[in-house]
Amino acid sequence: MKVAVIGAAGGIGQALALLLKNRLPAGSDLALYDIAPVTPGVAVDLSHIPTPVSIKGYSGEDPTPALEGADVVLISAGVARKPGMDRSDLFNVNAGIVRSLSERIADVCPKALIGIITNPVNTTVAIAAEVLKAKGVYDKNRLFGVTTLDIIRSETFVAELKGKDPSDVRVPVIGGHSGVTILPLLSQVEGVEFTEEEVAALTPRIQNAGTEVVEAKAGGGSATLSMGQAACRFGLALVRAAQGEQDVVECAYVEGDGKYARFFAQPVRLGKNGVEEILDHGPLSAFEQNALDSMLDTLRKDIQLGEEFVK
Ligand code: NAD
Ligand code: LMR
Repeated sequence: MKVAVIGAAGGIGQALALLLKNRLPAGSDLALYDIAPVTPGVAVDLSHIPTPVSIKGYSGEDPTPALEGADVVLISAGVARKPGMDRSDLFNVNAGIVRSLSERIADVCPKALIGIITNPVNTTVAIAAEVLKAKGVYDKNRLFGVTTLDIIRSETFVAELKGKDPSDVRVPVIGGHSGVTILPLLSQVEGVEFTEEEVAALTPRIQNAGTEVVEAKAGGGSATLSMGQAACRFGLALVRAAQGEQDVVECAYVEGDGKYARFFAQPVRLGKNGVEEILDHGPLSAFEQNALDSMLDTLRKDIQLGEEFVK
């Protein structure tokens, strides 16, 4: 397998590259690309870690050498939030970055599984889809918005609240990746009961966890290390499924049946060609149903913004 990390010199990219160097299956190739000139050096640095994963770094204007032959492409290229900003404030810069990277992917590795981390994810995934479609290579099963950070935050916060081992906690998170569009399904956490007050406090904590990090970093960026961990979990899930492992299930922001919105974060079974099956998110509590109904307008507008940007 060849995995390409795009935006690899950034806060997320370096953490992700470190984790993948340590955790990709033996014989994998890891390619790092970033416009920052330091990127080949980041790869040299990581190449001294004794794991059976080969690594090369590329910089400059053209991502082609990193993308050539890539089976999985994880994109964290773009600007991050500062205090007082919403993720949608990143659109002006990041939309163009995702558009041009998607064009190169369409030309160089159109069959790759693509994971988009760059915000605003609700919109950048729609941009990538429209670019790939215009190039005649769009396969909705191969394009993912990476929402795994919402999952790991939910698992962490639930485990803290209920005194559990986080590795035993599974929380599906559906919708999108910003504010009210992030909907953790606390009613479905096995073996854990929540009071109404706990749900009313924990849900916004999870929805605002990105802002919690942005404010704590006080102008120094947004979540990078936890996102590196989340993207590694998701990237490895894509790789494991592509290599034939059965029953690999993660939540991701994908184009499904369009019941709620064209793109929607939901549990999916992964296979050799990306999404193998969209799984039912199960019954919702009254609180969750209300939250779902209230988010859809925002989510659909976010998606439309991306579609219109490309058209
Ligand atoms: P960062 O500024 O540390 O790194 C971004 C990197 O992208 C930089 O190294 C920059 O040189 C590079 N870059 C810019 N334009 C590029 C291009 N055209 N091609 C290749 N590389 C390019 O930022 P970060 O903290 O790593 O965050 C990156 C993005 O991820 C932001 O948009 C942020 O909002 C987003 N993010 C998403 C999630 C999520 O859950 N999906 C979580 C955290 C951050
Ligand atoms: C997050 O959830 O931490 C990321 O989307 C970054 C951000 O801007 O909040």
